[in-house]
Amino acid sequence: MDSDAPTHPTDPQLVTHALAEAASAAGYAPSIHNTQPWRWRLTADTLDLHLVPSRILQVSDPDARLATLSCGVALHHARVAAAAQGWHVTVTRMPRDAGPDLLSRLHIEGRAPVDPPSALHLRTIPLRYTDRRPVTGTPVDPDALAAITAAVEAQETALHTLRPDQVLELAAAADHAQRSEAADPGWQAELAYWTGAARPAGTGVPDAAIPARATQTTVPGRDFGHHGELPVSAEHDKAAVFVMLYGSADEPLAWLRAGEALSAGWLTATEYGVSVVPHSAPIEVIATRQALRAMIASAGYPCLVLRLGMIDPADTGAPRTSRLPVEQIVDIA
Ligand SMILES: Cc1cc2nc3c(=O)[nH]c(=O)nc-3n(C[C@H](O)[C@H](O)[C@H](O)COP(=O)(O)O)c2cc1C
Repeated sequence: MDSDAPTHPTDPQLVTHALAEAASAAGYAPSIHNTQPWRWRLTADTLDLHLVPSRILQVSDPDARLATLSCGVALHHARVAAAAQGWHVTVTRMPRDAGPDLLSRLHIEGRAPVDPPSALHLRTIPLRYTDRRPVTGTPVDPDALAAITAAVEAQETALHTLRPDQVLELAAAADHAQRSEAADPGWQAELAYWTGAARPAGTGVPDAAIPARATQTTVPGRDFGHHGELPVSAEHDKAAVFVMLYGSADEPLAWLRAGEALSAGWLTATEYGVSVVPHSAPIEVIATRQALRAMIASAGYPCLVLRLGMIDPADTGAPRTSRLPVEQIVDIA
């Protein structure tokens, strides 16, 4: 997508329209607790991605690690949309000339051939969602896992598939992380804000996407502090595969890249019929983040754990989670 494709001048209005479409497609991106911590600023042929401080989880994400990662997903969605429409863009991550909230700058250089994998991804963007129900007993197709791994690794982020003994370690880490978080009244209040009835319109996790009862699982899923309305089967997700995304550094650029990798991997997974559920609690707590790091022999810095599993193709899926209206996420200068 960031190729050196030949370019030529084009109608400025078309360019601005293409960037507006890219920002709009990025609105579908998944984010921690559906906080959507991004704001786009569109100026003629440039689209700037800003982190929104008021939508950072101050208690569970004080370094904005998961908020930056979420913005990375939105960035990749925007890149996909531009490439799918036949635009050659350059991406500048962490531009130094602006404030700390400016995470990236997309600039349209001109026309390029439509990128077919991006065209497929663009159709997948509105179909992708988080399905917290148990996965079926069908194992994840090794070809699908290889494609997901390749998609992640193409975004300068590594992926480690956990061995069965490491899945048990992950289960212990996830349990420990959630217990220590749940013991903090500030954390409880933050979670209740984003997952309760008073969450800001168009954001947060609705009860329709939260399991109606505890699911049978080796690795505990996110404890939302209450049961929701999502009907779940009594199946045990024994066939799930757990993978860890990790970066070469523990800093905002690596988190942004991990978000781009999450987008690439999740869109690819969806195209293979593989369901993805992020597990971020063990990343949020320093002690468990370090335990995850030991699993990769300190080869990098853990960014996110994902549960992968097969979903029943006949299943129409869980209800979709709402988003902020486009005028609340895009400023047109
Ligand atoms: C960085 C990140 C961390 C997340 N962590 C969790 C998690 O720990 N547990 C969970 O159930 N969902 C998690 N999610 C999924 C979000 O809650 C979900 O993307 C959001 O509510 C929007 O819903 P959608 O993915 O169905 O569009 C995470 C998503 C992202 C991008």
